[in-house]
Formats: sequence, C-alpha cells, structure tokens
Amino acid sequence: MSSVPSIALNDGNTIPQLGFGVFQIDPDETAEAVTTALDAGYRHIDTAEMYRNEQGVGEAVRASSLSRDDVFITSKLNNGFHEPDEARRAFEGTLTALGLDRVDLFLIHWPLPTLYDGDFVSTWKTLEEFKADGRARSIGVSNFQVEHLRRLEAEADVVPAVNQIELHPYFLNEEVRVYGEDHGIATEAWSPIAQGAVLDDPVVTRIAGRLDRSPAQVVLRWHIQRGGIVFPKSVTPVRIRENVALFDFELEAGDVDAIDGLDQGESGRTGPNPDRFAYVPS
Ligand SMILES: NC(=O)c1ccc[n+]([C@@H]2O[C@H](COP(=O)([O-])OP(=O)(O)OC[C@H]3O[C@@H](n4cnc5c(N)ncnc54)[C@H](OP(=O)(O)O)[C@@H]3O)[C@@H](O)[C@H]2O)c1
Repeated sequence: MSSVPSIALNDGNTIPQLGFGVFQIDPDETAEAVTTALDAGYRHIDTAEMYRNEQGVGEAVRASSLSRDDVFITSKLNNGFHEPDEARRAFEGTLTALGLDRVDLFLIHWPLPTLYDGDFVSTWKTLEEFKADGRARSIGVSNFQVEHLRRLEAEADVVPAVNQIELHPYFLNEEVRVYGEDHGIATEAWSPIAQGAVLDDPVVTRIAGRLDRSPAQVVLRWHIQRGGIVFPKSVTPVRIRENVALFDFELEAGDVDAIDGLDQGESGRTGPNPDRFAYVPS
C-alpha cells in the first residue's frame, strides 16, 4: 500500500490521500474494523468525539505492529464544546480516549454559526494552541462554508490545513472546494460514495463494467484523480479491502468528466446544511 499518495498540507505536513472513516461504526465493533483496515493497508483513520468510538480506534492502532508515526489519525471537536475552556477539556478527552499523546489532525466538526453568538473564531484560536504545543500536528475545520473560511482568514493567525466537507458525484460542493484550492486549504470529501447512493448510477455502473472494477472503486478513484482526500467507511471486510485497491487502474479523462456531470448542486446534498446545522449531542 505504499502506493497511496500523500498530499502536502499548508503547514508542511503530509496526509495520506486515502483513509478509513469510522462514522456510524458501533463503538464495540470499531477496534475490529480498524484492525481489518490497517491489515488491508490503510494508514489514515478519520474519527470524531461525536462518533463515540475514538477508544476503539486507539485500541486498534496500539494493538497493531505499526509505529505511531506510520498512522495518520484525525479527530474532531464535538459541537457542545466550542467555548475555549470546554474545547481544551474536550481535546484532552480525545487524547485520553485514543490513548495517544498527539493527533495528526484535529478539526472543528461543525461551524454552528447559529450557536455561540456565531463565534467559531475563539474556538479556532483554541485549536491554534493545540498546534503550538504539538499535541495536534495539524489543525483544520469541517463543514465550513466560504463565508466562514473568509472570517477565519480575516481574524485568525493560522489558515486551516484542511476543510472536511460533504463531496461526492451528486454534490460537488464546488464553491467551497475551489475556495480551498485558491487559499491553500486541502479539501477532504466526506460521504465519498454518498453512503452508497451513487453506486447504482448508470454512468458509474457503465464505467465500472468497462474497467471490470466495482462502482465504489470507480467513484473513489474519481476522487483520487481529482486530487481529493477520501476515507470511505465500511464494516464489511471485503469492501474494506476493495476500497483501498484503487492504485492499479485509472479512469480516462472522459470518465472523470462524465462523473463530474452527475452534480445536482444543492439538491444533491445528503447531509445537513452547515449554515443551519445546530445539533448538540446531549
Ligand atoms: N465531518 C463530517 O461532518 C462528516 C460527516 C459524515 C462523514 N464523515 C466522515 O466521512 C467518512 C465516510 O463517510 P460516510 O461514512 O458517511 O459514508 P460513505 O463512506 O460514503 O459510505 C459508507 C456506506 O457505504 C457502504 N459501502 C462502503 N464501501 C462499499 C462498497 N465497496 N460497496 C458497497 N457499499 C459500500 C457502507 O456499508 P457497510 O459499512 O455496511 O459495508 C456504508 O453503508 C465517515 O466515516 C466519517 O469519517 C464526516
């Protein structure tokens, strides 16, 4: 799996372009799924405090024979903890749950512009502390819209290394992606196969048939060729292995264009709109 490319981040660090996502994996099943992923060659795991499974991620990484430096681990600040002191406590909680002394990337999970008097800037400045003291090698955001990124640019010192956003063939989220490209912010694509919704699309199945690859491999390869960072989730070992086998085939330019053409704009969004999302877990 040395063939998974790395993407350079704006702070000098690098991130493996392909990882393994653990959203909606039962906490009790997470260590086993992550172990399967590490055995299959994944070296990048995307978790979050909100997923309640950081512990299983840490357990699997520690139980593996890999050195800590060989696995890139991302976690995220939960929505109830945007106040600076809460964010500091939550970050310590993340490190404790993972059983690690640092993460490779720590993100603000959602901007929550309708909560906290619209102040995500003081939250971001708190993440800057974690980067400065080395406990987060890189820091970034998730679900930030262009106006949120502009505000950080105007009011903060550190430019986010990444913005993790919903992005798949039915929702290219192009305005946010292009803003990132123009400002040195790497875009990570969440729900890269739209939780399976794009896999029956005739454009995708036709390309898959011609290349003798699965629809999921075609869509993930499309992300890779567009320069995106992806971490598909699966609890199914055969799919976990299938989703990492992306580096011995290529889509033609016409295939990439045809999949680009599936974009449905805002109506292709499957998750919440970040401008309005205000969920705080109890
Ligand atoms: N920052 C955010 O707000 C945010 C939001 C959502 C997701 N994320 C991150 O992005 C990661 C991926 O997104 P996601 O989990 O929403 O969705 P996804 O990766 O697009 O899709 C996962 C779903 O597709 C199925 N699947 C996986 N591989 C398949 C294959 N080869 N063939 C057929 N079906 C397949 C899985 O089923 P089985 O598991 O049953 O195999 C699961 O139901 C998450 O795990 C999380 O790390 C972040």
